[in-house]
Amino acid sequence: MGAYRRDRCYFPLCLLPAPIRVMAARDSHGNAEKRKKTVDMTQSWQPHSWRAHEARQLPNYTDDAALAAAEKELASYPPLVFAGEARDLTAELGRVAEGRAFLLQGGDCAESFAEFHPNNIRDTFRVLLQMAVVLTFASKMPVVKVGRMAGQFAKPRSADMEEVGGVELPSYRGDIINNIAFEADGRAPDPQRMIKAYNQSAATLNLLRAFAGGGYANLHQVNAWTHDFMDRSPWAQKYKETAARISEALAFMEACGVTPETVPQIKGTSFYTSHEALLLPYEQALTRQDSLTGGWYDTSAHMLWVGDRTRFEGSAHIEYLRGIGNPVGMKCGPTLEPDALLRLLDTLNPNHVPGRVTLITRYGHEKIEAHLPKLVRAVKEVGHPVVWSCDPMHGNVIKTSTGYKTRPFERILAEVRGFFAVHRAEGTHGGGIHIEMTGQNVTECTGGAMDVTAMDLADRYHTHCDPRLNAGQSLELAFLLAEMLNQEMTERAKQAA
Ligand code: PEP
Ligand code: CO
Repeated sequence: MGAYRRDRCYFPLCLLPAPIRVMAARDSHGNAEKRKKTVDMTQSWQPHSWRAHEARQLPNYTDDAALAAAEKELASYPPLVFAGEARDLTAELGRVAEGRAFLLQGGDCAESFAEFHPNNIRDTFRVLLQMAVVLTFASKMPVVKVGRMAGQFAKPRSADMEEVGGVELPSYRGDIINNIAFEADGRAPDPQRMIKAYNQSAATLNLLRAFAGGGYANLHQVNAWTHDFMDRSPWAQKYKETAARISEALAFMEACGVTPETVPQIKGTSFYTSHEALLLPYEQALTRQDSLTGGWYDTSAHMLWVGDRTRFEGSAHIEYLRGIGNPVGMKCGPTLEPDALLRLLDTLNPNHVPGRVTLITRYGHEKIEAHLPKLVRAVKEVGHPVVWSCDPMHGNVIKTSTGYKTRPFERILAEVRGFFAVHRAEGTHGGGIHIEMTGQNVTECTGGAMDVTAMDLADRYHTHCDPRLNAGQSLELAFLLAEMLNQEMTERAKQAA
């Protein structure tokens, strides 16, 4: 495939389809004393109780009245997701924890107001579905699809201030907080940006729901896109066989009467949203009590995760997440020791509910095999039913000599390989993948079959934060993941025989 051009059609559908419709989509091993303690802790929890804890990475809003007004307004807005949907996701993730499904979580590093466009939402959704079909076929397991979309705005930063040419301004923390341009006015945190982010999330989620249930996600259609994409990509020759086998399977199913008309799962799919629960005033304002169960849910997304910089014991972010009923993720980097991890798991999931916690490991390709086994062993020993997911992005960032932050594709793959190797050796399920990607043909990560070079990065480097895999790199990753999942399945079958 030659250079990507925005004005050219790479897919059978260039225009948005007509509006279509939605299809949305256990117990304790703890002892009695532990459970009693849990009940007490949960009773003392309130959506605002995080405020009494150490909060890192929150912006310094200078106008308290403006902040309070924005929070009040948000608290009066409708929830974006329903508690029942969050519980469905916990149940689906529970199957991942038990080794019976696989999690695919992906999307932007940071959504932005500037890149808000239906085509961007459509293209990212489409690539995630294509990846899911390839993974389902390889693993013979359901793939739980979760977007880093419809709310993934706030970013933790390594420094509070940024300095350019002797001028110091607050760091950019995501469009929900301040503006990326290096100008004093825009860098001041503005609470009204939370309102804009909420509205953008609502519109994005509405479109995703329509795509998921309205016929756009039809399995035959998704497979046709993959063929079309590969026809235009000389590199994809080696994956043609898998794509052809998927087509054969679909044709066989159709002949047996399994069609979009007879089986709704062929026509639609379930798709969930997630983001880092970083900006706690925003998350608190969207925390609502479920009328059916009385439990508290963060209705800004189905799943929320806590980042590697804010997941320390006793943090405001952990305090917030322990009280909500949604499934939660926790990033695990090189500084997390097994003891601390077990205490954090007891806090977040005292009743050992499968699917409640997803551990998203992000070590870097050189560190994963040294760090991951000790965590896996510790968790296995106490019997916490977690989902193990691999984020091969955040430990593999390098800076080029020309000043671009990038991630070499081969390092991403090396971390994924290391992740599966550890789980194979420990007899646990490598249950998921967490990636930063886009359906656009950006040049942000180097490598891949199309071989984006360091010199190409300047061509289409659009990210507001970290470098993302482009559409081709994402699909290539799915085919490589498929090979690894296939191996896991073959080994399981051998052991069972
Ligand atoms: C992220 O997922 O965008 C992120 C900042 O990750 P981490 O907390 O793992 O660094
Ligand atoms: Co990122």
